[in-house]
Amino acid sequence: MSDASLAVSVGGLRLSSPLLTASGTFGHDPAALALLDPADLGALVLKTVTPEPRPGNPPPRMAEFRGGVLNSIGLENKGLDYWRETVAPQLERVPVPVVANAGGHRIADYVAVTTAFDAMAGVAAVELNLSCPNVDGGTRFATDPGALREVVAACREATAKPLWAKLSPEVSDVASLARAAEAGGADALTVCNTMRGLLVDWRARRPRLGGGTGGMSGPAIKPLALRLVWEASRACELPVVASGGCQSAEDVLEFVVAGAAAVQIGTAAFRRPDLFSIVARDLRGLLEEERVGLEELRATLEPSPPVS
Ligand SMILES: Cc1cc2nc3c(=O)[nH]c(=O)nc-3n(C[C@H](O)[C@H](O)[C@H](O)COP(=O)(O)O)c2cc1C
Repeated sequence: MSDASLAVSVGGLRLSSPLLTASGTFGHDPAALALLDPADLGALVLKTVTPEPRPGNPPPRMAEFRGGVLNSIGLENKGLDYWRETVAPQLERVPVPVVANAGGHRIADYVAVTTAFDAMAGVAAVELNLSCPNVDGGTRFATDPGALREVVAACREATAKPLWAKLSPEVSDVASLARAAEAGGADALTVCNTMRGLLVDWRARRPRLGGGTGGMSGPAIKPLALRLVWEASRACELPVVASGGCQSAEDVLEFVVAGAAAVQIGTAAFRRPDLFSIVARDLRGLLEEERVGLEELRATLEPSPPVS
C-alpha cells in the first residue's frame, strides 16, 4: 500500500524525490528553480568543475538527432576559484540539496576540487565525473578499475560528505568498475554518462560538431543505461543513481525496477525545465494506482525465464 511518498535515501542523502538534475544540463538559476516545487526535485546536480578554467571545445557544440542530442562541450567551466567566490555563496539559498561535480585529468585535480567542495556549506554531496567522453583522457579513470579505485580513495580522504562516482558507459564490464568505486570508498554510483557518437553533414563531408565526435544523450541511450544500472546494482551494495534517456515517470520506474535508487533527468529537461514536476506528479499517480512504494519496487527485475 503506497502513500505515494517519493522520498528516497541515496548514498548518505535523504531526498524528497528520486528525481535529480543531471550534471551540465541545469544551472542554479533561481528563475529556473522557481518553476519547481522542492518536493518534486530531490537534488540539484551541477556542472563539472575543474581546478583551472577550461574554454571547452570549438563550436558547434550541440546537435540534435532523432534519438536525442550529441554534445561536445568539453567541460567548459570558469575553474575552481571563480566557483568558490561566485557560485558557492549562492548555493546556500537553493531549496534542495546540491550535488557538486568534480572533474580533471589527474588524481590531484579531483582531490583539489573535492577538498574545496568539502569546505562549502552549500554543497551536500560530491559527484566525481570519471567519465566525460569529450576531453582527452577523459575516460581513463572509468575504464581502468585500479585507476578508478585510486582516484575515489584519494577523494574519500578529502571529504566526509557523501561521495558519488559517475561511471562511463564505454566499458565492457561495468561490474568491475562498480566494485572498484565501492572499494575506494564511494557512497553511491551514478550510471552512466554520455557515450561517444558521430553525426555527419555529408554534403560538407564534415562532422556536425566542431569537436568531431560528441557524447550521445537522450532516449537513444536509455536501453544502454538500463542495462548498466542493472549490472552495476547487482555487482555491489552501493545505491545507484541512473542517468541516461529518462523523460517520463514510466522511464523512472523502469530504472527503479532495474535497481536505481534515484534518477537524473538531463536532455529531456532542456525543452521543459518544469519536467521534474510533471514527472513527479505522474510518478505519484502510478505508485498510487499500483499501490506500491518506490523502495518495494527497487531492484525487483527478474531475469527472463530460460527458453525451453
Ligand atoms: C550539454 C550536456 C552537458 C553535459 N555536461 C556534463 C558535465 O559537465 N559533467 C557530467 O558529469 N556530465 C555531463 N553531461 C552528462 C549528463 O549529466 C548525463 O549523464 C547524460 O546527458 C545522460 O542523461 P540524459 O540522457 O538524461 O541527458 C552533460 C550532458 C549534456 C547533454
